[in-house]
Amino acid sequence: MDYEFECIGCHNHFLNIETAYVCSSCGDLLEVTYDPDELREAVDVSIWKSKAPSVWKYQELLPIKRASVKVSLGEGGTTLHRTKRLGDLFGLRELSVKNEGENPTGSFKDRGMTVGVSRAVEVNAKRVICASTGNTSASLAAYAAKAGLESIVIIPRGKIALGKLTQAIAHGARVIEIEGYFDDALRAVLGLVKSDPTLYMLNSVNPYRIEGQKTLAFEIWDQLGGGVPDSVIVPVGNAGNISAIWKGFQELDRIGVISRLPRMIGIQAQGASPISDAFKAGRSHIIPVQHPDTIATAIKIGSPASWRKALMAVKSSGGMMETVTDDEILESQKLLAGLEGLFSEPASAASVAGLKKLVDSGAIGVDEEVTCVVTGHGLKDPDIVLKSFNKSTIAKCDLQSIKLVLNS
Ligand code: F0G
Repeated sequence: MDYEFECIGCHNHFLNIETAYVCSSCGDLLEVTYDPDELREAVDVSIWKSKAPSVWKYQELLPIKRASVKVSLGEGGTTLHRTKRLGDLFGLRELSVKNEGENPTGSFKDRGMTVGVSRAVEVNAKRVICASTGNTSASLAAYAAKAGLESIVIIPRGKIALGKLTQAIAHGARVIEIEGYFDDALRAVLGLVKSDPTLYMLNSVNPYRIEGQKTLAFEIWDQLGGGVPDSVIVPVGNAGNISAIWKGFQELDRIGVISRLPRMIGIQAQGASPISDAFKAGRSHIIPVQHPDTIATAIKIGSPASWRKALMAVKSSGGMMETVTDDEILESQKLLAGLEGLFSEPASAASVAGLKKLVDSGAIGVDEEVTCVVTGHGLKDPDIVLKSFNKSTIAKCDLQSIKLVLNS
């Protein structure tokens, strides 16, 4: 379908942006827009019913025109788990968890990357680049490998989980570790792509990424049998994902298949919470955190690029932002793993930690239907589990010794 770009700041429209990622008038972020009448005409929900779950099931709502450029590893179609044991523990009527760890590289980033790398192929890019706290780099490296593109990832040295670094290396990315934080790495990438248009940038500032990620909302709606939860809770780092999910629900609304929208609730780690701080203080802008600090390395971000989009999503949906401590995150990671069999990385469990806090404070009612997005797989960051969970016990390999341990 035809599409344009709209600046979220000055609302200027652009027909084509090629390798410009931000508004050429005011520098703010861009968003893909579709004509609402064309949207309604293009989408036939009955056709969706016959298609297998996948990001590309919703192809009419994605800005890739030529099927031949599609680069896919089988992303999307992740399970929406009915998490009764966890819901009962929190006293909630209906709780579900969208487990994005089931994606090909183990995180929700694959939804955006399949569209982003397809777009890179569409514009004949040969080299793709991103800054990352880990998952974006793993995803970019995998999709670039599939497409036969060179990938370059810039990461903050010593601040990303081992599994993610391993993935980027395994898929053949050029890994550059910098001193500093994710925010410094992103600034470097934005500087590099400005001076070298042969580099195609695939951070979530790139609006094509957001288009892929919005399919998470379509799937929740699909998996609830055409329903919408009262609240959707999302861990927030650079703030692309919460904005994308909100865009997805808004598009469902525009094409007339839903009659109400969920509240969007964003959760940040206490040591890296500029958007939550702004929301709570009633400020319309963030104050960047200079030295973000949390064990949830994926969301250890002090100056999120999409903060304005996230604040808009939260405010216009009647939602909220909340912070959680590292201890609360680890506790929720244990609950997900121990009660539901869902192994998540710490950042991913922030949504569940936020849910608990908000139910306890009464901000979320016990009769609400809630969906928590769990963004990435636990195997990405095994170190944190070995450090914080109960460990194994050593025993001699004879029955008596093992029984002694069992009964102790
Ligand atoms: N959860 C996980 C597991 C993530 O990897 C990220 C972001 C988020 C949540 C937050 O999503 O940035 O869209 O608000 N990871 C990025 C990366 C920053 O580089 O992998 P967001």
